[in-house]
Amino acid sequence: MKLKIAVLAGDGIGPEVTREATQILKAVAEFGNHEFTFTEALIGGVAITANGTPLPQTTIDTCLESDAVLLGAVGDNKFNHLTPDKRPEAGLLQIRQELGGFANLRPSVAYPALAENSPLRPEVTKGADILFVRELLGGLYFGQPRWWNKEEGANGGGEAINTMRYTRDEVVRVARVAFELAQKRRKKLTSVDKANVLECSQLWRATVDSLKADYPDVTVEHQLVDSMAMHLMNIPRNFDVVLTENLFGDILSDESGVITGSLGMLPSATIGGKVNLYEPVHGSAPDIAGTGKANPLGAILTAAMVLRHSGGLEQEAQAIEVAVAKVLEAGHRTADISRGNTAANVTTQQMGKLVHQALAESIDR
Ligand code: NAD
Ligand code: IPM
Ligand code: MN
Repeated sequence: MKLKIAVLAGDGIGPEVTREATQILKAVAEFGNHEFTFTEALIGGVAITANGTPLPQTTIDTCLESDAVLLGAVGDNKFNHLTPDKRPEAGLLQIRQELGGFANLRPSVAYPALAENSPLRPEVTKGADILFVRELLGGLYFGQPRWWNKEEGANGGGEAINTMRYTRDEVVRVARVAFELAQKRRKKLTSVDKANVLECSQLWRATVDSLKADYPDVTVEHQLVDSMAMHLMNIPRNFDVVLTENLFGDILSDESGVITGSLGMLPSATIGGKVNLYEPVHGSAPDIAGTGKANPLGAILTAAMVLRHSGGLEQEAQAIEVAVAKVLEAGHRTADISRGNTAANVTTQQMGKLVHQALAESIDR
């Protein structure tokens, strides 16, 4: 099959992990006689440096002409003084809007081989397999008005506003994705909100309840976000599909990195728009950029999601996931997942090569 993939490597460890993910996609293309083409484009801090804007029009055009967009990460401390609309992160938010995907799927799986790596006890993480469905185009990230009255702040005053806003239709479309995915999994949907305080959450809860009749095989529970943050660490295997608004999903999905012991293990796919967007959950990790310590497995598992959701190549997606599990079972570790491991750590590139080898061994050529 043919797949045109736009590659937006971005900042920090973004290019380091994206390189390994594209190598794996190239290997899949070679083994299966598929034709994948890769077009690189700028986003984030590197785009600000080159073009003065975090999302040049040429990048938007490249993405819209592609079948899938694979993104590394954006963010660079040297732009911390800029207002949110000028920062590298603004480029990411804008490309999400341009592509239109509203359902961000963030799986969080406890790999048996990493049981000792989580700060949680193995009996707690055992069997955990959660799929977050995070609403990605609404809520506080995009609600208007938003501003910061900075000048007044200099005089001792100051005020800033962000707006959480949702329409019923925005909730319906992402909730339906979550219900449908739950039907294909363990048929349990946990909807997260703050309905004891926020009107947006009351709308959210009422809307989810109004759809239940269409999915009689799915059990629905509602959880308030604060206690959900606790339940998630206490009994992670109690959760199947977890539906959240934008900011709650941002926070809870990072928290779920504790189940594997590293944010570097988590992939994501954003579906429902013109072109699907694929990005690992982690950021540009300036603290380890350039050291070879970045874990590329989140990005490699993101590549598997490209094949699953944009290529219809389920077998190939699973082959990548199996290859990752095998490499972990063989004891290979990047620094972030080395807790309880006595062998020497491998670098980002070495980890990519190991997955490549495991994939080559498993694929029927
Ligand atoms: P981060 O995810 O970049 O890093 C958090 C911690 O996890 C760091 O200690 C980092 O070293 C570690 N980590 C993250 N990914 C790792 C990996 N693949 N392998 C090993 N360790 C890994 O979050 P942060 O430090 O809060 O933010 C840094 C920058 O990234 C900020 O500018 C932020 O806005 C940006 N960010 C971007 C995205 C994105 O592009 N999708 C996501 C989150 C944060
Ligand atoms: C993520 C990131 C982004 C978000 C930022 C960098 C805009 O944290 O993808 O999780 O908050 O969505
Ligand atoms: Mn985040």
